[in-house]
Amino acid sequence: MIIGLIGFGKVSQNLIRLIQSDEITFITSTENRSPETIENIEKSSVEVIDDVKEVAIRSDILISANSPKNALSTAEEYGEYARGIYLDLNNVSPNTTYEISQHVENLVDGAIIGKIDSDKPLLYISGEKSDELVFLNDYIETVKLSDRIGDASILKMLRSTYTKTLSALLIESFDLARKHGLEEEFLDALTITEGEGFREKSLSRINNTLRSRKRKSEELDEIISYFNDDDLIMVKAAMEKLNR
Ligand SMILES: NC(=O)c1ccc[n+]([C@@H]2O[C@H](COP(=O)([O-])OP(=O)(O)OC[C@H]3O[C@@H](n4cnc5c(N)ncnc54)[C@H](OP(=O)(O)O)[C@@H]3O)[C@@H](O)[C@H]2O)c1
Repeated sequence: MIIGLIGFGKVSQNLIRLIQSDEITFITSTENRSPETIENIEKSSVEVIDDVKEVAIRSDILISANSPKNALSTAEEYGEYARGIYLDLNNVSPNTTYEISQHVENLVDGAIIGKIDSDKPLLYISGEKSDELVFLNDYIETVKLSDRIGDASILKMLRSTYTKTLSALLIESFDLARKHGLEEEFLDALTITEGEGFREKSLSRINNTLRSRKRKSEELDEIISYFNDDDLIMVKAAMEKLNR
């Protein structure tokens, strides 16, 4: 079986590390790639093909894992050449996934949950053709959600609705605790009910959110416009908080 990769960043490199079988060959192309990506490709064991179109043609499974911005144009450019399954793993909104489906015959909507470089990320898949990817569960925990394109993207968005809103609330409460000189005690007190590891996870969540505040607020904006629901009061407040 040939698995083709469009995009050779953290996601693709980790998939290669996790999916190891004598029966699977990974292919990709260095066409139009940056020196860093070309170096990563050359250091790896993947087979290098001259151009991306040829990668699409030869692959039994073509994986698009490049960037949210390029996900649609990749499908527009190469989707028609993919004769096998086209698995989109980019963090795109469900609307973009529907648009991608207009250019790809055998699309599977995919969402990786958890840190990609961990040993145990979880792969959610949806779409009529997703049964054909259930075998990936031998290498990476893979859960088929449904036959509907969009469900994997929606689930990822639902998760972000909770985690990003919660991060904004954490930042707000932590700031309050600091103003009262009780930030350590605040985290200790929460750990009693939230469980071991809460302190580290919260601090990492606060730092991550503050570091990429603009992107997170844009993602919340995308959530608000996608779900278009008057009840999204907390999400709207979280976005306002991150914009301040
Ligand atoms: N990292 C995560 O934890 C995670 C989890 C779930 C989903 N995702 C999604 O998976 C995708 C890849 O993430 P990543 O972390 O692997 O990104 P990354 O480490 O930033 O790497 C992106 C790779 O895609 C390549 N690329 C960009 N535009 C391309 C195009 N038009 N055609 C072919 N290759 C292109 C880049 O090459 P150049 O260097 O040449 O630009 C680079 O090799 C993103 O859409 C992201 O949202 C990421």
